[in-house]
Amino acid sequence: MKHRPLTLAEFASYAAEALPRGILLTSAVDQKVNTMVIGWGTVGVNWNLPVFAAYVRVSRHTRELLDRNPEFTVNIPLGKADRDTIAVCGSKSGRDLDKLAACSLHPVPGEQVSVPALREFPVTAECRIIYRQQEELSLLPEEIRSRFYPHSRDDAPSDNSRDPHVIYYGQILSAYVLEPEEGEG
Ligand SMILES: Cc1cc2nc3c(=O)[nH]c(=O)nc-3n(C[C@H](O)[C@H](O)[C@H](O)COP(=O)(O)O)c2cc1C
Repeated sequence: MKHRPLTLAEFASYAAEALPRGILLTSAVDQKVNTMVIGWGTVGVNWNLPVFAAYVRVSRHTRELLDRNPEFTVNIPLGKADRDTIAVCGSKSGRDLDKLAACSLHPVPGEQVSVPALREFPVTAECRIIYRQQEELSLLPEEIRSRFYPHSRDDAPSDNSRDPHVIYYGQILSAYVLEPEEGEG
């Protein structure tokens, strides 16, 4: 497949448009590839670098993979995403299911990272984590805390039982659209 390069602004525009319906974040350890739906994400500049910040709850299999391999890809469909893919990749865990096989998603080797892009979600950012931070839930307004982190009582021993997000700041090493080569289907 060909890679048509995107500027940060072009990638940001695709991401902002698609995030509310769900896009994919793909990670891999030891050749085992997993993908999950994300609905939150921030594209911008930190430390003078282009960055995609992803919000992954502590309980996700993806969180374990990102803590073992700091590379990931962000995968956005051209047009509307396949509904079944969003349903499966947004609810099933990679601990129990090979989601790429289940959803007929085809990996395409990354340019600069060990994690693949996905042919069916061709708008791609290749990222390497340069900073991570678990949310400190006590710093959030109560309205947001009770809406998004209701999982335990206030007096629970650890905020982790409310399943906070870990924010992964991935430096965008490359952003592009995968396009078929001439003669490729
Ligand atoms: C539309 C949509 C958006 C989602 N956004 C996020 C998100 O931003 N962060 C998150 O941790 N989970 C999010 N999820 C839930 C995960 O995709 C889901 O729990 C998934 O099964 C995790 O897969 P894993 O255990 O293989 O990592 C979202 C689900 C949907 C359907």
